[in-house]
Amino acid sequence: MKPFLPSPTTLLLCGLISIVTLRSDNMRAAQAPVVRTLAAPPVARPNAQGVANAAGTPRPRPAWTDGTAAPPTATTSWSQTDPFAPVYIVTSRDTYQGIRGLARDAVGRRDSTGMPLVISEIRADSLGEIGRHVHVNERRCGGFFAFPNRAQAEAFLHADRSRQAMTKSLLASYTLDNQATVDRWLPQVEERRIYDTINYLSSYRNRYYASSFGKTSAEWIRTHWQSLAAGRSYVTTELFTACTNCSTQPSVILTIQGWDLPNEVVVLGAHLDSINANNRNDLNQLAPGADDDASGIATLTETLRIALSEGWRPRRTVKFMGYAAEEVGLRGSNAIAQSFRSSGVNVVAVLQVDMTNYKSGAVPDMKLIADYSNADLKNFFVTLFDTYLAPRGLTRGSVACGYACSDHASWTNAGYPAAMMFEAGGPNGSFPYIHTTSDTLATMGESAQNSVKFAQFALAYLGETAKTAPVRFTGGPAPVFREGG
Ligand code: BES
Ligand code: ZN
Repeated sequence: MKPFLPSPTTLLLCGLISIVTLRSDNMRAAQAPVVRTLAAPPVARPNAQGVANAAGTPRPRPAWTDGTAAPPTATTSWSQTDPFAPVYIVTSRDTYQGIRGLARDAVGRRDSTGMPLVISEIRADSLGEIGRHVHVNERRCGGFFAFPNRAQAEAFLHADRSRQAMTKSLLASYTLDNQATVDRWLPQVEERRIYDTINYLSSYRNRYYASSFGKTSAEWIRTHWQSLAAGRSYVTTELFTACTNCSTQPSVILTIQGWDLPNEVVVLGAHLDSINANNRNDLNQLAPGADDDASGIATLTETLRIALSEGWRPRRTVKFMGYAAEEVGLRGSNAIAQSFRSSGVNVVAVLQVDMTNYKSGAVPDMKLIADYSNADLKNFFVTLFDTYLAPRGLTRGSVACGYACSDHASWTNAGYPAAMMFEAGGPNGSFPYIHTTSDTLATMGESAQNSVKFAQFALAYLGETAKTAPVRFTGGPAPVFREGG
């Protein structure tokens, strides 16, 4: 196995994002109102014949065979949130420098890796300013963990296990011996299905954690995932609501029970919420979040469809997760990771899938996130890529994401091995329309082709971490043992 060495020129993400982002939003506002087609055909099947990926040609909206209604378009009722409520955030010291004017009662801390951090208090309604301040003033990402009170923020840092999680895997080693399964899966990925899921999710007005859409879109994901598991008694879904600061938005968890190593858990996750950083305090904000992160949920949904369609059963238990409230401080994933830690769940690997659908110009096909991740798992990601995707002509790079930039950081903090593959963006930086009204399929060429690669990566990860049990589901009551195991 070739060791993963982050290149010395590894760039930090977000470098050029926000300046472009803010300007593009202003330009939109000055030009024309956003026109979005929202009506879904009431009964049609998901776009069975598919449509060519002609850039700029919107394809028909999907309807779903599970009978789920089309997403709401205009009316909603809002859950209660108090914009003046204090929120306690943990940021890097650098990020704190950029948002000093918004924060009060700051105290310096370090995590177990020695990283200088700051706990500070801000008003709920200035949360969205953090990213903007940092992006504009410092030209980099400004991730943070958010808590409802200072005691929880302190307890979080006190219990931090990042050092252990970054250096040591809970599995003796990750192995590569399940090519039979993975090779069968990879050609089955269908761009049209990923497109349809992104299309559906991004047609909610927003998936903001505190809005009613944030809740109903999460419930739709649960229903849709459950429909993919129809007839599989070893697959269950749940809404995870034990998050004290996720408002009414649940996280979604689908579990495939492991056949012979059920206590070893493999996680694949993506955040299900969205945000409009320019309009953050409006619960009716327009935040389609097609790339960030409907693309991640859609990538996982296609991975799940393929894995379940032929009755595959894993040796280890597998959990697909849609996290609530990532955009306001990694809240859903942190609640899950902490709860797993307290109940001693043995998570052996976590894949984070956040933004998969944008690529522009001569950049690699995907980038491994270099920081706040487990070293062994990163090496394994490189091996997976070189084994399964490089032969298909794909290329990889790496990039640093900054402190607490996505949900893998929640798992790292809780002591679990996590890593993330990320879209490469363009030559001048990442997706320019992140957190704006223009994070749509239209600004990604009306195609989900880039996400196909990530679904293939997720399938390789799934097959090689969870492994294939020596059984096949036949639809009958008893499992049938396959010759040769
Ligand atoms: N999907 C992004 C993370 C991201 C954005 C990674 C751009 C790389 C480039 C995520 O949803 C996000 O917005 N993260 C915030 C922090 C979060 C805690 C609000 C960030 O990194 O600024
Ligand atoms: Zn985001």
